[in-house]
Amino acid sequence: MTFTRRTLLGGAFLAAASAIIPALAAKPLVIGFSQVGAESEWRTANTRSVKDAAKKEGITLKFADAQQRQENQVKAIRSFIAQRVDVIAFSPVVESGWETVLREAKAARIPVVLTDRAVSVSDPTLYASFIGSDFVEEGRRAARWLVERAKKAPGRTFNIVELQGTVGSAPAIDRKAGFQEVIASHPTLKIVRSQTGDFTRAKGKEVMEAFLKAQGKNIDVLYAHNDDMAIGAIQAIEEAGLKPGKDILVISIDGVKGAFQAMVAGKLNVTVECSPLLGPQLMALARDVAAGKPVAKRITVQEGVFPAEVAARELPHRKY
Ligand code: AHR
Repeated sequence: MTFTRRTLLGGAFLAAASAIIPALAAKPLVIGFSQVGAESEWRTANTRSVKDAAKKEGITLKFADAQQRQENQVKAIRSFIAQRVDVIAFSPVVESGWETVLREAKAARIPVVLTDRAVSVSDPTLYASFIGSDFVEEGRRAARWLVERAKKAPGRTFNIVELQGTVGSAPAIDRKAGFQEVIASHPTLKIVRSQTGDFTRAKGKEVMEAFLKAQGKNIDVLYAHNDDMAIGAIQAIEEAGLKPGKDILVISIDGVKGAFQAMVAGKLNVTVECSPLLGPQLMALARDVAAGKPVAKRITVQEGVFPAEVAARELPHRKY
């Protein structure tokens, strides 16, 4: 065969075309993601993790912020169905009330992946997989820390006030249950007041002010379902002329930088880790689900407990 300029150009064209065609054929995965809101430092880190991971993986992410309202999440899911996304992922603001919209997704053959928070549904086939923390265990860990601490003052009663997360949300229900389960066998540990602070600093402060008004100095421990509420409450404690971390022990959950800073300042005693860095695992899971590969129904995240004593050492390494 004689090679001419023309055959060489033709060969170059074919080579270029064969590189381009598969790239066109493999269209990027499209995920519709409905986020709870932007209520906490944790949530901001979670949103960043999901968006960064999608970008890195070349996945098209349709992101919707529900502003802590279930009706907004239902609307977003319906819009993802109408847009025929490949996978729907969401972090449900509350546990119940999802059957109808999830059945619509199933009828449209769009797989659903839950992230961070669970749903309570009678038909488990309405979602493919759930990736997130074990919130009950987080509550247990918080209580176990207190049980150990209480051993230093045998026989003393500890009056606990509890700042719950969003009413009806999985972390609020589970963190309460886990904590309660452990303190049940310790009669000196008593929850004297418990109210929601909706996972926000502002509400955490407001409710703590009300607790302080009602209880006076008869509060020994604050158990907050997240760091943001604890940080808000710390402000209320200081404004009441008390020392958070000393006059009132402060226990919270998440492990955000703000909590580590509060621990370094001696105002918070312990934070139980709940990792928001779920983005990379979520993208891998969504890819598998979209490809019809078998996936685990429940994927849990490994986490630790950080008492104030290790805060200064750990703070520089915190990623959120
Ligand atoms: O669902 C996880 C919880 O939601 C985090 O603990 C809290 O900070 C967030 O708002």
